[in-house]
Amino acid sequence: MTEVFPLGFPPATCFYLVLLVATLVLHMVFMHYVLAGAAYLAFGRFMGPKRCAVCGWQAILIDWLPFATGLAITAGVAPLLFVQILYQREFYTANLLLSHRWMAILPVLIVCFYLLYVQKSAWITRRAWFWRIPVAGVVFAGFAFIAFSWTENHLLSLDAAAWPELYGSGSFRYTSSGLLPRLGIWFFAAFTTLAVELAWQGRLLGMKLVQPPPGVAVMGLSAVRRLSLTATSGGLGVLACGTAYAWTLPGETTRALTGPLGGAWLVAAVAGLAVQLAAWAWVAVQNRFPLPLLITATAGCLVSLTSGVVLREVVRVSTVDIKALAVAHAEAATIGGLPVFLLFAAVNAAAIVWCIRTAARAV
Ligand code: HEM
Repeated sequence: MTEVFPLGFPPATCFYLVLLVATLVLHMVFMHYVLAGAAYLAFGRFMGPKRCAVCGWQAILIDWLPFATGLAITAGVAPLLFVQILYQREFYTANLLLSHRWMAILPVLIVCFYLLYVQKSAWITRRAWFWRIPVAGVVFAGFAFIAFSWTENHLLSLDAAAWPELYGSGSFRYTSSGLLPRLGIWFFAAFTTLAVELAWQGRLLGMKLVQPPPGVAVMGLSAVRRLSLTATSGGLGVLACGTAYAWTLPGETTRALTGPLGGAWLVAAVAGLAVQLAAWAWVAVQNRFPLPLLITATAGCLVSLTSGVVLREVVRVSTVDIKALAVAHAEAATIGGLPVFLLFAAVNAAAIVWCIRTAARAV
């Protein structure tokens, strides 16, 4: 490949690659909130009732995690469609080989979803504080399992050489040297996104971020410093796991990531991360979070997230024979259905407006 991603592919392949990346970024925006938010709460709950009561971030997460989970799931549907069009053989084979292990993400997701509501229910507030710890712990373990499964499935889909042996052994588990570092990249990246999202939520909900009130601290850290610590540890974790993951990649893939196809995106990903880390360092030192800095951190986050998702695709297109799939992509592009799509888009939009109006009236 001599052109920057997504150029240089046949038009239909390029079209679906762009759609996959764009919709997957949206999935990541919400999924990061859910994954890192569940982790934040699971560990935060150990601080006990007094400290948790003054931690505005935990209160926001308790309130918003169920909604964010709904968004993460919904936003996962579009890339799920595009990934099947683009890499049908790879994606389906991995799904079939992992079998029940892969499908286990559905019951786990349902349990986590319901426990998020238990977590914010009046029922649990009437119980001893202790019970919030296992509930938050199970929610986090469930989401971590789902993330693990997506990474496992993805890596298996790229490792055609492993398919016969896995099928022959009847095992439902796939391991590879890239599994943990790759999962680590998504896990730690989730904290950088969460910090930015919480900062916006806090701002919109009237928290004092520009000049945090003195005295309101948890473990000696003000609200903005806690966010800075969250984002900074996430960013450093991404760098460590990204380096470890790079070691596991074959030379050809590394060349694709640093060459014309992915090189510019790699620079953008690192630059976006650097901007975020610099912004959060300023916040930690100054102990305040003015709007221009929040916008800077948000821009850095969006650039590194989008570039990260593109690089994820660069790894895949340099592993599978994407040119051989061009005919299938071109065929898929001829299949229409716009009127049906528009009809259901209108019905859904009307249903959403009705739901919002009904809820707003009730509130
Ligand atoms: C809320 C729980 C979820 C978590 C924590 C989660 C986590 C992840 C992670 C970590 C990845 C990246 C895997 C990798 O590149 O190594 C991923 C990819 C993906 N997720 Fe999610 N996910 C969740 C729910 C869903 C749901 C419910 C859907 C579908 C409706 C979905 C659709 C996708 C798709 C299509 C991909 C890309 C797969 C590929 O390109 O091979 N996710 N998810």
